[in-house]
Amino acid sequence: MPFQKLKPQVLSIIESKNLSVDHRLTEVCELLEKNIPYYDWVGFYFKNGDKNELKLRAFAGEPTDHLIIPFGKGICGQVAVTNKNFVVPDVKAQDNYIACSIYVKAEIVVPLFVNGENIGQIDIDSHTADPFSKEDELFLEFVNEEIAKILG
Ligand code: SME
Repeated sequence: MPFQKLKPQVLSIIESKNLSVDHRLTEVCELLEKNIPYYDWVGFYFKNGDKNELKLRAFAGEPTDHLIIPFGKGICGQVAVTNKNFVVPDVKAQDNYIACSIYVKAEIVVPLFVNGENIGQIDIDSHTADPFSKEDELFLEFVNEEIAKILG
């Protein structure tokens, strides 16, 4: 598991003040998608202004039609409401799920907090069944905590 090796690379991207925040978010998505074999799509959704919906801000992987997700809808929309990590080992077992690609078997969504407020999330889709462990949750929490420092 390359998480310990990836952490300094994540920090280096986040601290690249010469890049825009959106560019840094995209580079973090690309780093994770390229280096973790079962991360097939990686994206950041954020609350869209004062609307109760999420908007896709950065991603790596195939483009998705789901640029806007209402709060409560799908795995992402549920995390916007519950403020809790959501690990889905088998997307077929979920009723409230928005399919992005027929190849996706599993998904993990981890909320991103700024000053204690859930303002967005990192979303990973996997083509591998049941691939996520506690290590993934801890790593993605680390990524979000570091990104929170440049959002504000
Ligand atoms: N599957 C997500 C929708 C976003 S895509 O994975 C990119 C969901 O159920 O919220």
